[in-house]
Order: sequence, then C-alpha cells, then structure tokens
Amino acid sequence: MNTRIPEQNDPAAPLSPATQAALEPAAHAPDSPGATHIRSFVHRRGHITQGQRDALERLLDKWSLPYAPKPLDPAAAFGRSAPTILEIGFGMGETTEKIALARPGDNFLGVEVFNAGVGSLLRRIEDSSIANLRIIQHDAVEVVRDMIAPDSLDGVHVYFPDPWPKKRHHKRRLIQPPFVALLASRIKPGGYLHCATDWEDYAVQMLEVLGAEPLLRNTVDGYAPRPDYRPQTKFETRGLRLGHGVWDLIFKRAA
Ligand SMILES: C[S@@+](CC[C@H](N)C(=O)[O-])C[C@H]1O[C@@H](n2cnc3c(N)ncnc32)[C@H](O)[C@@H]1O
Repeated sequence: MNTRIPEQNDPAAPLSPATQAALEPAAHAPDSPGATHIRSFVHRRGHITQGQRDALERLLDKWSLPYAPKPLDPAAAFGRSAPTILEIGFGMGETTEKIALARPGDNFLGVEVFNAGVGSLLRRIEDSSIANLRIIQHDAVEVVRDMIAPDSLDGVHVYFPDPWPKKRHHKRRLIQPPFVALLASRIKPGGYLHCATDWEDYAVQMLEVLGAEPLLRNTVDGYAPRPDYRPQTKFETRGLRLGHGVWDLIFKRAA
C-alpha cells in the first residue's frame, strides 16, 4: 500500500483515492493473468506534471467515460447524434485537440492508457472549450472489443502507434491481423481507417495487414498523401527536415 502523504504541488504525490478508483480498470499489468491478449503498452510510472495531475483530479469525471464491458451509446455519451471517430493512443493529445476543433460536426472518442496524456488532453478540452471529445482511459483493444458496436464507427485514427522496433517485441504492435479484423468489423461500410507511422518497416507491415483484411479497401495505390485534417506534429516536422519518412495509410470499410 502507498503510505506517502500527498503534498500540494508535489508532482510525485499519489492521485487521490477517488481518481485512483476511477482509473483502476486501466491499471491492469501487461499480460496480467486476466489479460486475453499481449498488450501493446507497458505501464511505467512516467512523469506527470502538476497541471496534468490537477486535470485528472478535476476533469476525469466530466470528460471521460469509464470502461465497461458493454456497448457504448454514443448519442448518450456525446449528448447528440453525429459521426463518431475513434482515436487510439492519442499521447499528449495535440493532434486530437486540433482535429476535434477543426471538425465540430464529428464526435471524437479518444482512447489512451497513459495518465500524463489523459491529464494533458483533459486540460486541452477545458482550455479550448471542446464539446465534441470524450476520453476512455483503458486498453483500446478491450474498448473496441467490448464497447464499440459492429458497423458503428465513421472513422478510426491510429497515429504513430508505438513502433516496438525490436523484433522480439513486434508481437506488441497494435496493427496486426486479429486486431485489424476486429477494428474493421466496428467501422460502418464506407467509414475509414487512417494510420500513420514514421517507422518504415511498421509502414510495410501496416500496408500488408490492412491490404489483407477482407473488409478493407485501400483508397489509393500504396501509401496516401497526408490529408489536410491530420496536422503535422512538431516531432514529424523535425523528422522530415532530417530526411526521415512518414507514411499515411487510408483504407475504407467495404460495403
Ligand atoms: C508513440 S505514442 C503516439 C501518440 C500520438 N498518437 C502522437 O501521434 O503523438 C503511442 C501512444 O499509444 C498509447 N497506447 C499504446 N497501446 C495502447 C492501447 N492498447 N490502448 C490505448 N493506448 C495505447 C501509448 O500509451 C502512447 O501514448
């Protein structure tokens, strides 16, 4: 048990019991006995700023939906019916914020496991008064499997998923045939799956896996140009300047 007494403005202080309880389902250890699949993330007690911690404490209840093993009703969750776009692994949420603001007619559901990232996006939601974004802090594989109804998503964004560069870790990569088949089954006919990566061998794997999924069709021959709605991140701009590549893949769900 953690017996540290939280001090104000101490970024290392534990979260309050209420916030910890709210996050409990996200805290499954990778490959824990309850896990039915290899996790695409590992839990690290990463650095969290005081602002992110405050946002988690104040805003988690307001803008996040708890994981539950039953289908989500998006109209109830967002307070309106609109096209639903799922984003998997939003990191610190810079891109998520920009896209949600640029596309006010769509509802965005962001899924992330990492406390600092969730705190960061909660702050952005509040600071930019974003009404069309909700967060689920949980393993996206379980969210897609348990909370997303078949044929219900208008789009899915998977931007720069962890590349797991070592060969012995490739099994942790998110874009693999079983998960892509599950994801494709949750997309509406005509809806899209948009992935981006800056790892060439992961891009090749994505093209193979998406290309082999019977429910998906590539929108172009090979890799797609970056569409205007996906902003170029600072990290990506720097990488491109250094001559590194970025690959976008945009597939549509077949009828
Ligand atoms: C390399 S970061 C990219 C973040 C962001 N999309 C970007 O472009 O900057 C990948 C993120 O995916 C998250 N992630 C990995 N596996 C996940 C899973 N199964 N469910 C939810 N989030 C996951 C990680 O915690 C991490 O924040």
